[in-house]
Parts: sequence; C-alpha cells; structure tokens
Amino acid sequence: MTIFHLSAECYPIAKVGGLGDVVGALPKYQNKLGEKSSVIMPFYDNKFTRSNNFKTVYSGKLHLGMPMDFRMLTLEDNDLGFDIYFVDVPYLLYKDYVYSSNDTGRFLAFQIAALDWLVRLQEKPDVIHCHDHHTGLVPFMMSQCYAFQKLKSTPSVITIHNGQYQGWFGHDLVHLIPPFDFNNVGLLDWNKMVNPLAAGIKCSWKVTTVSPSYMEELKYAANGLEHLLQSESHKCVGILNGIDTSVWNPKTDGYIVKNYTTQSVESGKKGNKDWVCEKFGLSPELPLFIFIGRLVGEKGADLLPYIFDSVLRSKKLSIMMLGSGDGNVENQLESLKNSHNGYYNNYIGYNEQLSHILYAAADFILMPSRVEPCGLNQMYALRYGTVPIVNSVGGLKDTVIDVGEKGFGIRHGGPNVHEVVHAVGRAIEFTGFTEHFKKNRKLIMQIDHSWDASAQTYINLYHSIQS
Ligand code: ADP
Ligand code: GLC
Repeated sequence: MTIFHLSAECYPIAKVGGLGDVVGALPKYQNKLGEKSSVIMPFYDNKFTRSNNFKTVYSGKLHLGMPMDFRMLTLEDNDLGFDIYFVDVPYLLYKDYVYSSNDTGRFLAFQIAALDWLVRLQEKPDVIHCHDHHTGLVPFMMSQCYAFQKLKSTPSVITIHNGQYQGWFGHDLVHLIPPFDFNNVGLLDWNKMVNPLAAGIKCSWKVTTVSPSYMEELKYAANGLEHLLQSESHKCVGILNGIDTSVWNPKTDGYIVKNYTTQSVESGKKGNKDWVCEKFGLSPELPLFIFIGRLVGEKGADLLPYIFDSVLRSKKLSIMMLGSGDGNVENQLESLKNSHNGYYNNYIGYNEQLSHILYAAADFILMPSRVEPCGLNQMYALRYGTVPIVNSVGGLKDTVIDVGEKGFGIRHGGPNVHEVVHAVGRAIEFTGFTEHFKKNRKLIMQIDHSWDASAQTYINLYHSIQS
C-alpha cells in the first residue's frame, strides 16, 4: 500500500512533542511490514535542514490570496527508514520554529502545496493519513476542491493527537481555500468558525485517537467537539501509540551516560543517576523523581511547584524537572532551586539528550496530567526501568497498572497536590521493598510497547476503507 502521512512534526527533523515521535516512527514500522509509507512535512529552518542536503522533486505555484512559488524537496541521503518530502514555501514555512500564534496561512499553504503535488503523482496513493488540525483541511480539500478531484476517491484518515487545539479561523479567510462548491461550506464550519479539526473529523473516512480511553473521553470533553465526535463515533477508533524501540533502547542509546540491559539495570541506572546528581547538585543516595514535558495546564504543570514544595518539605527525595512553557510556572519552579537547594533542580528548555539521560537515571517519573491523549513519557520510562506515577486519565490509564493491583506503576485518582503527594509517599515506600522494586525494574523494561502491533492495526484500518 502507498501511504502518505502529513504532519507538522517528524522526529528527528522537527519535534515539539509526542506528535514528532509518532510520525518519525509509525511510517518506519509500516515499511517494515512491507508497505510503502512516507511523510510530507513543512521545510523549516532548523539544525536538521541546515546540516543535510536536499533535492527538488517538484516546483509549483499555489494561491493564498496571491500567487506563491513552492518546491517539494526530498533528502539526498536518507537513513530514516521512510521516504520524506518537504513543502518549501520560503517566507511562510521556512522559519526557526514549528508553531506560532499566526499559523493559519502557514499550514494552509502546506496543505494546498502537498495536495497539488500529490495529484500530480503517477501512482495514486492508497491512503492519506493526516495528523492533528494542521492537516485537518486535507480530507475536505480532497473531497471538495475542484483542483484535487483526482483524490476524491482516495481514503483519508485523521489522527487526533490533541483535540484541544483545532486551528480555528474566521469565515473571512475561507477564500484562501482553493475553489469548491460553496453549498458544502458547512463541512468546514463549527460554531460559526472554520474549524480544521472539525472539518477533518467530518470529511475523513476514519478518525483515530492515540489511545482507546482518550477516544471515550473526547465524547464528553473535546473543547466543543463533543457532539461531533458522538455523531461520528461509527468511524472513530482509539489506537494506542507505540514507541520506536530502535531509538529508545537503554542498551544502545547513544545519548545516555551508561548503557544497560535488564541484566545490568542496577549498575546502568546508577551510572546515569550519578551523572545527573553530580551535574545538578542532587544527592545520589535519595530516590530520584523526574518530570519531563511541556509546562501547560494539560500536563498539570501549574500544580508542579506546589507538589514539589510539599513533598520536599515532608519527604527525603531528589527532584529534577526538564521542561518549558508557562512563564509563571517556570519562575515558580526556578525559585524552588533556592528553597530546596540540593534536593531540587531544573532545566528550563528543550534538551533531547538530557531527556534520554533522565529517563535512564530516574527511579520515578511524575505525570500528573489533567488530559493525556496517549503520553509517550511513561512508555519511555518503562523501557528504561523507571516507574511511572500517573494520573488515571487517557493513555496513562491504558498503559500503567498500579502495583496495588498486581501491576508495576503508581496511579493516583486526580490531578491535585494531595493525590500526587500521597502517590510519592507510596513510591518511596515501594523503594523500601528492595527485592520487589528491583524485580519490578526488570519487568517493566520488558513490557512491549513497540510500534509493531499498532502499526499493523493502522494498516488493517487502511485496508478496511479500500474500495
Ligand atoms: P506531548 O506530545 O503532549 O508533549 P508526549 O508524552 O506524547 O507528550 O511526548 C512528549 C515528548 O517530548 C517525549 O519524547 C518527551 O521526552 C519529549 N519532551 C517533552 N519536553 C521535553 C523537553 N523539555 N526536552 C526534551 N524532550 C522533551
Ligand atoms: C499529543 C498528546 C500526547 C500524545 C502525543 C502523541 O501531543 O498530548 O498525549 O502522546 O500527542 O500522540
């Protein structure tokens, strides 16, 4: 099957969060299963694009209020495990960031250019797989725009990685979308706005979310799209994300300080923990708790300063936080460095290598998310022998079973300070059962969350919509 994934992010080219990881892994696993799966993404100005060579495979023109030139590029040397194509619209997409507060034109240009190229391919794709609202207008344009009629009968799938963000814009900009039968403009609309995510849900042949629990949650909390998801539920399915076990493998991970397997997990994790504690002025004798992520409300980031302060006052532990986002939360966290000097530290910013070292070094990872469509951190943590402490929501609920229920992690019943402090207490108690704790580490490292199974599930889904 010929599959094209359309996405704003793709690891290792551009990653802001889990979307990048998913789109950098799923096609690779689909190709391993014998399919022809490729990615189309915007051409950004970043480290990857500056240090690799590209060739032009197509030059075209698009209209976005005015005519614009664009190019489709591909890598000269590609060892990603999938083919990748870039939409290069110089003044719009080629920026040193992925997202900004003014992205309507950028992602419209991306989607129009990608379709303009796809309709010209000799071999018609078997499926177009869109990811999040940045590509949500593609299923509409494939089925409605005169210019893309060739793709009218091609099945499209949209995956909702995060239903919170929907890409709304006013109807005054609807003329930027290539001509279509205006009687059908309602397909673009939700609450009197053009809503790309809603349009994607209405017009794609299948809708997936990144865990089964999140699919259910969206029917009751989808930032205004609840009724739409209920009425389209016949074509919706939750498919749990996987992880790329060739990138996330403590045995071979080139980022970490000391590699290890289940056999050498104790000394391996100690090597990484010693490094982190030395670097960030923490005590290696104490259990190390980490948080890694975007500092936003969905992740429970506003709770972190209160959680950290409260547990550090009452318990003996070290905490290391890696993340960035809300400026107020960042400031509060920074000031904890003084009040809990020697027990708390953080790195405000994005650092891929440090994230790997922290997964390897830590005893526990905290994820007090209010909303977590899937969550990859807990799966990476498991693979590196780090016990997840999670709120029972979305994908966290689908991947973490509590030790009290013959499981291997710690779940709490709500995203609040009291619940998390209690959970941290349970975690510290768990370390006291040394043999069980060590056995648990080996066990969690062996849980199979690789993409093998879910990549096949997506392929089965594509097959189910072929005519
Ligand atoms: P989300 O996509 O909602 O941010 P996920 O759990 O799906 O959450 O994925 C987050 C990904 O981003 C993981 O690979 C995680 O390690 C990475 N990540 C998040 N914040 C940072 C950071 N500050 N530095 C490095 N990696 C980060
Ligand atoms: C989103 C979600 C996260 C999920 C990721 C990859 O960013 O917030 O939970 O793991 O997408 O699907």
